[in-house]
Amino acid sequence: MRTPVLAANWKMHKTIDEAVAFTAALREQVKDVTDAEIILSPPFTAVRAVADAARGTRLGIAGQDLFWETQGAFTGEVSAGLLKDAGATYVIIGHSERRHLFGETDAAVNAKVRAALASALTPIICVGETLEERESNRTLAVLDRQIAEGLTELTAEEAGGLIVAYEPIWAIGTGRSATPAQAQEAHASIRARLEQAFGRDAAARCRVIYGGSVKPESIRKLSTQPDIDGALVGGASLDPSRFAQIVAGGRPTPV
Ligand code: 13P
Repeated sequence: MRTPVLAANWKMHKTIDEAVAFTAALREQVKDVTDAEIILSPPFTAVRAVADAARGTRLGIAGQDLFWETQGAFTGEVSAGLLKDAGATYVIIGHSERRHLFGETDAAVNAKVRAALASALTPIICVGETLEERESNRTLAVLDRQIAEGLTELTAEEAGGLIVAYEPIWAIGTGRSATPAQAQEAHASIRARLEQAFGRDAAARCRVIYGGSVKPESIRKLSTQPDIDGALVGGASLDPSRFAQIVAGGRPTPV
């Protein structure tokens, strides 16, 4: 039985004050939730403040990206160690916005995943196809490549501890979520690829979560699919009540 993950990705939203107010509101609303991992991913500037506001709760904190070097002359970049120092224990890697707006390659994703693991940060690795790739029946091949290249040189133990986020690019911020069947097909294919590369135990342990226009109204049907272990939520995670509703709907036994 995999523990579901409900992760908020705030992208480039929220000042420190807004992030702290959100965290204070959410911690009340989810204080009885012990059967799901809840993760907040603030912008770098608010990681420390959110970590402080979440202290004493089960809320986890993620960075939205990192750089693979440990330190040095890399203006503008943030290392795994700096993220941990600010209070993060997870990090999002290879979000499609990083891949498409900032030219991040599968090789860069792999270097970041290995840097995160070396610092004991749990990577949340994003994969997903464009609309054009889906319409030309290349979805599963694209996912295979992203998984194979993004996870090169990982051990089975490391692969089992990952969180993989399937985020079809055409569903992000569009209001057009993948259907539960479309998402399940992609998740099953990702898990099969993980099993091929890392064995059955690692594939069975790895959480594969869905992202792309997840709403309080859609989470339940998605999260009851056998290979969907939660969600990575953008727009609907910006409001604490809406995100708390998504947490409630994504739990094994919803309230
Ligand atoms: P939306 O939920 O706004 O579609 O964003 C999804 C996403 O990119 C989460 O990382």
